Amino acid sequence: MVIQVSNIAEEINKRRTFAIISHPDAGKTTLTEKFLLYGGAINLAGSVKGKATARHAVSDWMEIEKERGISVTSSVLQFNYNGCCINILDTPGHQDFSEDTYRTLMAADSAVMVIDASKGVEAQTRKLFKVCGMRGIPIFTFINKMDRDANDTFELLDEIEKELGIATCPVNWPIGSGKRFKGVFDRHENHVLTYSDTQKGTKEGETTVIPMDDEALLLETIGDEALALLRDEIDLLDGASAEFDIEEVRKGKLTPVFFGSALTNFGVEVFLQNFIEMAATPLARVSQGECIDPVENDFSAFVFKIQANMNKAHRDRIAFMRICSGKFDASAEVKHVQGQKVMRLSQPQQIMADERKILDEAYAGDIIGVFDPGIFSIGDTVCAPKNNICYDGIPTFAPEHFARVRQIDTMKRKQFIKGVNQIAQEGAIQIFQEFNTGMEEIIVGVVGVLQFDVLKYRLENEYNVEIKLEPLPYEHIRWIENKEEVDLNKLSGTSDMKKIQDLKGNPLLLFINQWSIGMTEERNKGLVLSEFGRN
Ligand code: G4P
Repeated sequence: MVIQVSNIAEEINKRRTFAIISHPDAGKTTLTEKFLLYGGAINLAGSVKGKATARHAVSDWMEIEKERGISVTSSVLQFNYNGCCINILDTPGHQDFSEDTYRTLMAADSAVMVIDASKGVEAQTRKLFKVCGMRGIPIFTFINKMDRDANDTFELLDEIEKELGIATCPVNWPIGSGKRFKGVFDRHENHVLTYSDTQKGTKEGETTVIPMDDEALLLETIGDEALALLRDEIDLLDGASAEFDIEEVRKGKLTPVFFGSALTNFGVEVFLQNFIEMAATPLARVSQGECIDPVENDFSAFVFKIQANMNKAHRDRIAFMRICSGKFDASAEVKHVQGQKVMRLSQPQQIMADERKILDEAYAGDIIGVFDPGIFSIGDTVCAPKNNICYDGIPTFAPEHFARVRQIDTMKRKQFIKGVNQIAQEGAIQIFQEFNTGMEEIIVGVVGVLQFDVLKYRLENEYNVEIKLEPLPYEHIRWIENKEEVDLNKLSGTSDMKKIQDLKGNPLLLFINQWSIGMTEERNKGLVLSEFGRN
């Protein structure tokens, strides 16, 4: 028995569960692919990549995905590296960005932020970072594409600090970029790792390690000009940058920064080695004010995503759960806390990029998918039957696109309402009503525009209801934090402001631009607006 407990602790402490955040094209897929390569999970570079190969394989869950060759869903990749078991949570990017992308971040213990060295901080990174910032999880920065001409290194760091409000601490420092990229200086090890672009696709590469005191070899390898500049930059950096402090990293206040080139495999393994040392093991989560330690407690997990239609013939749903504590044993009973029902989780599986594997066991830090007969909602907790853990809910994230929805055939009102409600319950869309009126007019809000197509497609195919979507010009939504103190009828907003309510009757405000939000706050002293809704 004792041996078993210590095995569980060992398994849990081996776990590192992280999400990769980036703006499209920064190199997230390429970097993921290289991680898997080092973990031995794939043999050839190129097998994760190609939006046409693995991504496609993940996503024949919905016809719409096939048609467009994109992934609306996200998946989890697991591999072992240097004694650690790493779970990468893939977050859908591009135009398939959705609320699920945000929710996936709620299941991660840390995040890796990939930045294109020639672009700096971009819009989508900023949005995803905000969610990571709200959770205070450790964030690791990989500045990619150093084999191309990059922005000035100090300016890149400055931009991260100013735009994202996080201190930076470069673990290594690039020597040139583009055609003059010579490698990186490792500040911890005090040596230079040289770059050669013959490393494309190979696992080991041809990096040479040169100690900083080997002046002759450094001169010969990187040249006198680059070496002089490097020494100047190191001096400047030592004086200016934040001290490395693992506690600050763990609190998400300091980001360790690495430079490299995912495409040519440079800097990826150094990153991984440092990452597994510095990143958090599965984090404790809060249940009704109490911290649930992942090792000390029996099995518990929460639902962070529900995927409908994994199998079109059965209209089935898969609930994705993040295990927060203990060991999951497929043969044991668990309690669905919100439904107060004891049950066995049906068909527990690990959802990898191109395969689904039935699981017998899993540990805190892991993600499992289970068959959902329609009982789970996002944020629900399951735990050992004798416990009553109830994890804090997942916030509702601000949609950025809104449309009025009507069914074309008025006779199909019932199916329409049912379909819209179910799809909203899965968390694919948010539904609102006009303020102070009934359900007549439905306003749908989505995080990514593709969700409108998903809604239309699913209503037609699953509920046999054709709809008409009329886009609305609003881009910003705000929840009213202190709704009890505010008389909404007297609220003095801007002319472009619209009052709506959610299905629970909570008031919300829609705005066309950021300026109007500021103006409304100014005109209504004491009004507290929030970008996140509480469930
Ligand atoms: P994403 O998942 O973040 O959207 O980015 P992805 O990895 O798909 O990379 C976007 C493009 O950037 C790809 O080129 C990829 O090869 C390239 N790339 C990624 N990392 C590096 C790097 O370190 N250096 C350079 N020079 N390029 C990099 P593409 O032409 O759009 O796709 P493909 O034709 O190579 O598949």
